Amino acid sequence: MSNQFTRRGALTLPLLTALALSGCVAARPASTTAIDPKNAVVGISMPTKSLERWNRDGSNLNKLLTDAGYRTSLQYADNKPDMQFSQIQNMVNDGVDVLVIAPIDGTMLAPAIEAAKAKNIPVLSYDRLIEGTDGIDYYVSFDNRTVGTFQGKFLVDQLKPNPSSPKNVELFGGSPDDPNAAQFFGGAWDILAEHFESGAFTSPSGKVPKNEDGWKQIGILGWDSAKAQSEMQTRLNSFYADGKKLDAVLSPNDSLALGIEQALEARGFRPGQNWPVVTGQDGDKANVMNMLKDKQAMTVFKDTRELGERAFTMVDQIIKAETVEISKGKEYDNGKKKVPTFLLTPKVVTKDTVKKDLVDTGFYTAEELGA
Ligand code: BGC
Repeated sequence: MSNQFTRRGALTLPLLTALALSGCVAARPASTTAIDPKNAVVGISMPTKSLERWNRDGSNLNKLLTDAGYRTSLQYADNKPDMQFSQIQNMVNDGVDVLVIAPIDGTMLAPAIEAAKAKNIPVLSYDRLIEGTDGIDYYVSFDNRTVGTFQGKFLVDQLKPNPSSPKNVELFGGSPDDPNAAQFFGGAWDILAEHFESGAFTSPSGKVPKNEDGWKQIGILGWDSAKAQSEMQTRLNSFYADGKKLDAVLSPNDSLALGIEQALEARGFRPGQNWPVVTGQDGDKANVMNMLKDKQAMTVFKDTRELGERAFTMVDQIIKAETVEISKGKEYDNGKKKVPTFLLTPKVVTKDTVKKDLVDTGFYTAEELGA
């Protein structure tokens, strides 16, 4: 849509027609700071439709906002940073009133965010932090470092590290362009590093970063299941072909865990016999089903309903010019600004707690899980 602006309540007929036809959003005069709640339009930019969680996040938030009477423009960027950049630029040009953005590459959006700031469009960074710009106003997420800490602690609890009987552990990192991935690995490394140092844990593949910052070398771009599967296959073929025991795999999330589990299955690993402890995050349906089949030991559940509710509340407070509630002392530094943040708490879910945490709370039905 063209970069035309008009006064609220006085939308011209051609503009209204263009909006209706293009699914674009209504305009707001660049100089206006107060948002008219009755006509507010919220732009939502999500990374991709190809991973289960973002579909859920996008549709949840969209529903909450539209149920409250706001108009929205929900866009997915196919995991392509350039596409996300231009989608956001278009939303800014179209004059959305608030932007909610889950970035693909946390460092690449700064110029689009600066454009939003120049038009007084408040920006809420969703789940992942947008870096390198002071144009963002708020951040809402789960405590990402804690996610990794939970995964590391889980492995330690299960494997009971002892240098006189070393355990074989393979490590995976998340997408190198995702700021959350560093947090996940950092949290896990806080717990695991000492056991690699003592020799209680070892990786036959040798894919162990020298320190927390080296995690990108074991990162899987785009959080892609197929890439994780092929990396696991290579490691199994190269380092475990002689029947060496694999005790555990640190997988930072469920999409990677799924690929890893497929590689294990194909290589003849069997639950109850030689299946390693595999970690995950998100509570994706396929992974929960694998948990019920003992192919994945845990997932760190981040209830997207809770995140959606909180993001909705923050947007609603922004639009109504109310005080936006944040978590005290939990600002995240994005390199240019200490961003006021609302932080939610993740939770470990295992086979034993699937019913209580995921079914009884209505996240999945028992039928959906084939249970
Ligand atoms: C999210 C995770 C998700 C991953 C891949 C991360 O930024 O925090 O929940 O598994 O992206 O989509």
